[in-house]
Amino acid sequence: MVDKSKGDSVATLDAAAAHTPVLLERCLELLAPVAQNDGSVIIDATLGMGGHTEGILERFPKVTVLGIDRDPQAIEMASRRLMRFGDRFQPYHTTYDQIPAVAATHGTAIHGILLDAGVSSLQLDEVERGFSYARDAHLDMRMNPTEGISAAELIAEATPAELTRILRTYGEEPNAGRIVKAILNSREHTPIESTQQLVDLIREALPAAAMRTGGNPAKRTFQALRIAVNSELDILASTVPAALETLSLGGRMVVESYHSLEDRIVKRAFSAGLNNSAPPDLPIIPEEYQPYLKALTKGAEKADQQEREHNPRSASVRLRAVEKIRNHNPISQVSRSNK
Ligand SMILES: C[S@@+](CC[C@H](N)C(=O)[O-])C[C@H]1O[C@@H](n2cnc3c(N)ncnc32)[C@H](O)[C@@H]1O
Repeated sequence: MVDKSKGDSVATLDAAAAHTPVLLERCLELLAPVAQNDGSVIIDATLGMGGHTEGILERFPKVTVLGIDRDPQAIEMASRRLMRFGDRFQPYHTTYDQIPAVAATHGTAIHGILLDAGVSSLQLDEVERGFSYARDAHLDMRMNPTEGISAAELIAEATPAELTRILRTYGEEPNAGRIVKAILNSREHTPIESTQQLVDLIREALPAAAMRTGGNPAKRTFQALRIAVNSELDILASTVPAALETLSLGGRMVVESYHSLEDRIVKRAFSAGLNNSAPPDLPIIPEEYQPYLKALTKGAEKADQQEREHNPRSASVRLRAVEKIRNHNPISQVSRSNK
């Protein structure tokens, strides 16, 4: 933790610096046409350990980066790591659905937005944050530990139907029913408050065959709870359209997702701007219904084998990027389509 002792924080900063951001070169290439201009401003919506932002600030000497993260520890660490860039880097401790507010506070056009979704290595490695099934800790999993309810509280309070939905949808856990049954039996007499308790309970609940199929049997449940505790998909769904509105004309948005549901949200939000929005029977498409985005990637891009071998986190990445080619006024479109 950054506030424990100087020695620890230096070690953590070193670890952060050693960590390679996913598809860094590709992100830099996609942002280059906007990041290299005088006065350009880029929002890094998921600052994390500041790896992507450091790459942007190093490569493009004229850019300013506004770095958002909901995790106070990430903000503190990245701010220290990026101190050498002076006011070319400005941190914002908030959630990324606040991109329009951050842009308004800064008071300039936004030329690029990068969003590298999900959990950071810092969060996974900090045992006491409770994200990892590999080490025992309080079952917390909040990216901002000062807000919302922990995974332990969610497990204690959620209805059986809600728990099953979370495990099935966010974790794609085929044995959701068995695990939820075990949780319900256990929570009747003992609160489930530690990662180890949950791991043990999952191991006991699963049939032997499920234990033999690769990977840790608790992995899917932990992923599902993390997504639910942090409302990750709901926030992402409201963020992408608002972020696209915030971009200036010619601006670019790059998103890296690690879960099929995240990628689906991004794909849908981008598709709405990549296709014309005219009613089907119009013979000529008026300007305001023309697509306002251009795709910069063909579908979703993946990491190549070399990166996947070097950085396991990149194995599931899906990268999509767009450029804003027209100004877009969703309000006038909605009011027209309602007439
Ligand atoms: C994959 S990490 C980013 C790593 C970063 N690109 C780097 O190079 O170090 C994702 C970060 O996004 C943050 N995050 C996730 N959801 C968020 C949200 N809704 N609002 C703000 N930050 C969020 C997490 O706290 C985490 O630090």
